[in-house]
Amino acid sequence: MLEATSLSKSYPSPAGDLVVLRDVSLSLSPGDSACVMGPSGSGKSTLLYILGGLEPPTSGTVRFDTTDPYALDAGGLAAFRNREIGFVLQDHCLLPQCTVLENVLIPTLVGETDRDAPGRARTLLEQVGLADRLDHLPSALSGGEKQRAAIARALVRQPRLLLCDEPTGNLDAETAQVVADLILRLHAQQHTMLLVVTHSEALGQRFERRWSMNRGTLTT
Ligand SMILES: Nc1ncnc2c1ncn2[C@@H]1O[C@H](COP(=O)(O)OP(=O)(O)O)[C@@H](O)[C@H]1O
Ligand SMILES: [Mg+2]
Repeated sequence: MLEATSLSKSYPSPAGDLVVLRDVSLSLSPGDSACVMGPSGSGKSTLLYILGGLEPPTSGTVRFDTTDPYALDAGGLAAFRNREIGFVLQDHCLLPQCTVLENVLIPTLVGETDRDAPGRARTLLEQVGLADRLDHLPSALSGGEKQRAAIARALVRQPRLLLCDEPTGNLDAETAQVVADLILRLHAQQHTMLLVVTHSEALGQRFERRWSMNRGTLTT
């Protein structure tokens, strides 16, 4: 279970602290999916990075079952993130020199040897409809295909939490729907906790559980 309590985030600036998140609390259980909707600049990405162990809050706590990721040392936090959390961002961030299959396997190259990883990667690439693209370089894929590969990469370590930041932001409406379908279907199959942040109404409507973010404040 993911539990965020009273998260605040501010950045120092010459004109005084810039407050980006104010007293944000939320929780997710395995199998839950939810989205945070809000305009650009409202603090959605900041919240996602804090929940994902990428950026410590100024105050408040994040708990992942009994673990406070920010109480871990840097190596422990990196290992925790790699094991427990999958990220899908607006930009696919695939490595251009690696094939689709290699890209999906990258998260499995650190830590203990993961003998089942190649099998899982192939299965996931099948599930996202890229079974016949394993040896392609990203440059030979369409935008939607790249994002589908990025979803497979995010899930290859079977994370308990899947965080998506504007996952359809660079896609046309039809492709965006295909990608949203995939995220929701794989989430249901893998029983992850899923949190999507977006300013897209079309994507937000796919979720029963929705929060709004406005100038750093989260409301239901
Ligand atoms: N590292 C940073 N330093 C200073 N301000 C930041 C930093 N990161 C984000 N911000 C500010 O925080 C606010 C929220 O940003 P962000 O979380 O990216 O919003 P959203 O994802 O909703 O568009 C913006 O005003 C942004 O400029
Ligand atoms: Mg953002």
